[in-house]
Amino acid sequence: MKIEKVHFPGNIFLAPMANVTNMPFRLMCRKYGASMTYSEMISSDAVVYESVKAFDRGLSCEEERPFGIQIFGNSPSIVSRAALAIEETYHPDLIDLNFGCPAHLLVKDGFGSALLRSPEIIYEIVRELCETISTPVTAKIRVLEDMERTLHIARLIEKAGACAITVHGRTLEQQYTGKASHEYAKRIKEELSIPVIANGDIVDEASASSVLEHTGCDGIMIGRAAMGNPFLFRRIAHYLETGELLEYDECLQRIADLETYMRSLQYYGMTHTVNLRAHAQWFTKGIRGGKHIRTRIAEAKDIEGIINSVKEMCVDGP
Ligand SMILES: Cc1cc2nc3c(=O)[nH]c(=O)nc-3n(C[C@H](O)[C@H](O)[C@H](O)COP(=O)(O)O)c2cc1C
Repeated sequence: MKIEKVHFPGNIFLAPMANVTNMPFRLMCRKYGASMTYSEMISSDAVVYESVKAFDRGLSCEEERPFGIQIFGNSPSIVSRAALAIEETYHPDLIDLNFGCPAHLLVKDGFGSALLRSPEIIYEIVRELCETISTPVTAKIRVLEDMERTLHIARLIEKAGACAITVHGRTLEQQYTGKASHEYAKRIKEELSIPVIANGDIVDEASASSVLEHTGCDGIMIGRAAMGNPFLFRRIAHYLETGELLEYDECLQRIADLETYMRSLQYYGMTHTVNLRAHAQWFTKGIRGGKHIRTRIAEAKDIEGIINSVKEMCVDGP
């Protein structure tokens, strides 16, 4: 798959997820077959007015390329200023604009999916950004109940110069409830010339394959199902390539991945910026005895404690 001049090894993307998709996690997803990864969202206002902290989320490394940095904001000039600074510092392959976040903290100030109510501002943000930076610009949206109004926004994003669009088939009001509708991505794909990526409720081989087939989209993006489960990308990539399910031991895989992830957080000095217990617990979701293991993780004092308790529980059983 290709977005402007950027080539991707495939068409399965990892979704940007705040407080989840840090660099060590993204690197694991890449290793297992995610074709593209984005940073957690960065506030353009924070970059321009406060510099510091939020900016760190842009950190990546050569191994991760191609990678994208996602920003949000509601002022075309501030978004452009922030993106220029990010471009200069991190040289991402893509800069993605967030028009989908439904979090009250953002929506109340007119950021994220609140902007879907003001298509003309979306247009200005994308247009000014595309004129300001040389990095290709992509956008990620939620949908409106009204198909025509959603299509209108998608057309404006393309007209303003974006080179790809990701469509999460839920409305702002739905938050994360109900089921994502992929009809929107399908219709947008039929209308637009730029690549379209479908997102929402893709959780396994079957849903990945059926969303690609149903929508005709260029790619799919996976969020929550990848939390604690970076190996999902290997499974899906294998299935899309061969039509067969990959055989593996889920419990052993998850535990090995948990240890690799924890060691990588140590290696990159990120153990203090991540909620280690929460992240470790995601890795045990859905495995045998997971509930007992999560209790042990909650009691663990540090990374060694987390890794040891998980290993013991898996060898000895709860
Ligand atoms: C914990 C969490 C954090 C998220 N943070 C972001 C974000 O920073 N930027 C963004 O565009 N979407 C964010 N999302 C939305 C996801 O990228 C994705 O659109 C959504 O989860 C639907 O995909 P899924 O059903 O595969 O999870 C977040 C979702 C979750 C669950």
